[in-house]
Amino acid sequence: MATTTDDHTGGPDDPDQTGGPGQPGDPGMAAPTAGPTAGPMAEPPRRRTGRYLVAVGLVIMLAGVLFGYDQGVISGALDGIQKQFSVGTFLLEVITSWVTLGAMVGALVAGGLADRKGRRWTIVSAAVLFTAGALVEATAPGAIVLVVGRLLVGFGVGVASVAAPLYAAELAPGRLRGRMVSLYQLAITMGIFVAYFADYLLINGNRWRVMLGISAVPAVLLVLAILPLPDSPRWYVKMGRHDAARDALQKVEPGVDVDGELAAIEDLNAKEEEGSWKEVFASKWRRPLAIGLLLAFLQQLTGINAVIYYADKIFAAAGFHTPASQSLATLWAVGAVNVVATFVAVAWVDRFGRRPLLLIGSVGMGVSLIVVGVMFEVLGTSTSSGGSGSVTGTVTLIALVTFIASFAFSLGPVVWTLINEIYPSHIRGRAVAVATAANWFAAWLVAQFFLSLVNLITEAGTFWLFAGFCAATYVFVLRFVPETKGKSLEEVELLWGDKEAIRRAIGSHR
Ligand code: BGC
Repeated sequence: MATTTDDHTGGPDDPDQTGGPGQPGDPGMAAPTAGPTAGPMAEPPRRRTGRYLVAVGLVIMLAGVLFGYDQGVISGALDGIQKQFSVGTFLLEVITSWVTLGAMVGALVAGGLADRKGRRWTIVSAAVLFTAGALVEATAPGAIVLVVGRLLVGFGVGVASVAAPLYAAELAPGRLRGRMVSLYQLAITMGIFVAYFADYLLINGNRWRVMLGISAVPAVLLVLAILPLPDSPRWYVKMGRHDAARDALQKVEPGVDVDGELAAIEDLNAKEEEGSWKEVFASKWRRPLAIGLLLAFLQQLTGINAVIYYADKIFAAAGFHTPASQSLATLWAVGAVNVVATFVAVAWVDRFGRRPLLLIGSVGMGVSLIVVGVMFEVLGTSTSSGGSGSVTGTVTLIALVTFIASFAFSLGPVVWTLINEIYPSHIRGRAVAVATAANWFAAWLVAQFFLSLVNLITEAGTFWLFAGFCAATYVFVLRFVPETKGKSLEEVELLWGDKEAIRRAIGSHR
């Protein structure tokens, strides 16, 4: 990808500062010729976004689109699958939810794989698995083969959901890391939107095979995008490949003297023990492990996917009578708002910081969920009393939009950012995998039990329960989650051994 954009004449990424042909960070000057400095005529180092960094952004976005498309598409495909294979409810549930279980296993496997084989090859393997799964799904002669395809796809998504953000977090300069990982979330929301749109376009004519098969396209693009790129400098250092590490750093920040950063990475690497599962659960890393796990769980327990999966049903209960009005409300109020509000995080996460976004977002989510609950309970919203033009229908719509928007600029992107930056380098792959698998597990729990919960404690009770988890998130972030904005990964790692520094980082938003 990056090499194809190489024109030596300056490009969209700040032509004034590209430094001309033959500069070390230029994709056309790929290793081994690229060196750490640009020679005697070089301009003083300036910070700019290199083309390689843009290509890394593309990689993480394609991985996010895979994730999101997969989350969003199945609801529209189920009807056609049911008709064609005459499957019962149980098999239908399996077809829906086993992707999440496959992803959970994939996420766990990805940790060790990313540490041993590298982030880059792990992403390539994920994309290959995903493509194979999508093709099996699209051509499945029966329900059982379809389930096999779903598992394969889930496995691929799970592996990619660990390796891609990890890769981006390790390649991005500290000042851009939050933004880079937030791109992942942005792409997830775009994937969901595209899936809703595909469902809407393909719903007639039983074209579920196309809906599922299309997801092979971003997977193939992902392989093409990542092949010309280097692996992460942190991984190279861990493997003892110091020249490759320097080259990777230089490529993402051309013209910048990377010696200091490389020395910091090497220094820390020399002090670290060999990464192992025992080390992941060692007491000195208990704090970051608990923070990552809890954030991963809370992100799901605040009910985001209940809204993503069951938006049509929620809008129906709030008085949107026709399927067309429901799917339109879902497409725009959920799908599009999710995308647009994520831009806020991409733009501000490295300026405002992680804590303020999480704190404001969890308040917005909690309050809007309480309002949705009130609409269902106190005002007795039902299909007969409400309507898309009624007060209850309108208030529910506004509250859901607020909920989605609040999630999209906070818990959505920031949780993934934090999970990928709080762990020490030697166990990062495995620790990210544990937190990501926890996220998939919690997603599965919500998807599986949302409707039963509604039967048990009503819609209002369910939304208030989710609101309770928003309150828990607020308190947890306020008391325990340190600010990591602007810190290098090495600085974040050193934080965990310094209680005073943690205290400062927790109070730094005030
Ligand atoms: C969550 C997904 C969710 C998506 C919605 C992600 O951060 O992990 O489970 O579907 O956001 O935008």
